Amino acid sequence: MSEHEATRRNVLYGAAAAGLAVPILAACGSSSGGDATGSTDPGATGDGSSSAPGGASGIKTSDIPVGGGTIYPNEKIVVTQPTKGEFKAFSAVCTHQGCLVAEVKDKTIDCNCHFSKYSIEDGSVEDGPAPKPLPEKTVTVTGDTLTVS
Ligand code: FES
Repeated sequence: MSEHEATRRNVLYGAAAAGLAVPILAACGSSSGGDATGSTDPGATGDGSSSAPGGASGIKTSDIPVGGGTIYPNEKIVVTQPTKGEFKAFSAVCTHQGCLVAEVKDKTIDCNCHFSKYSIEDGSVEDGPAPKPLPEKTVTVTGDTLTVS
């Protein structure tokens, strides 16, 4: 009655871990400024060329498509209008590896470096490798002008 059954399999998969070298395109300068420069004249001639990091003034509400958004690369922000009259703003710096997001379409804010997608409604991650949502900014609407801080 001695059954000798030694079925051992040692399967070794020598999987070489492939190191991926990914270029980092954008510098990260996310010092969160607290105060906005509160100059919001409804008739001001600003055209969104403010260079305050993380903030902008003089953005026209008509520049933001309903159900979409507009990216301001210099200010590193993206402003969206999920529904008519409701404006949101987020950091445009992807939380994955710091690229600037590239476009807004189909109700998502898209980073083309590794294809993360964020909701235009709350900046939450909809797809891709991004580990966390885009930080939300404060939007102040004065007449037909937006200020982001
Ligand atoms: Fe990788 Fe944006 S930096 S998806």
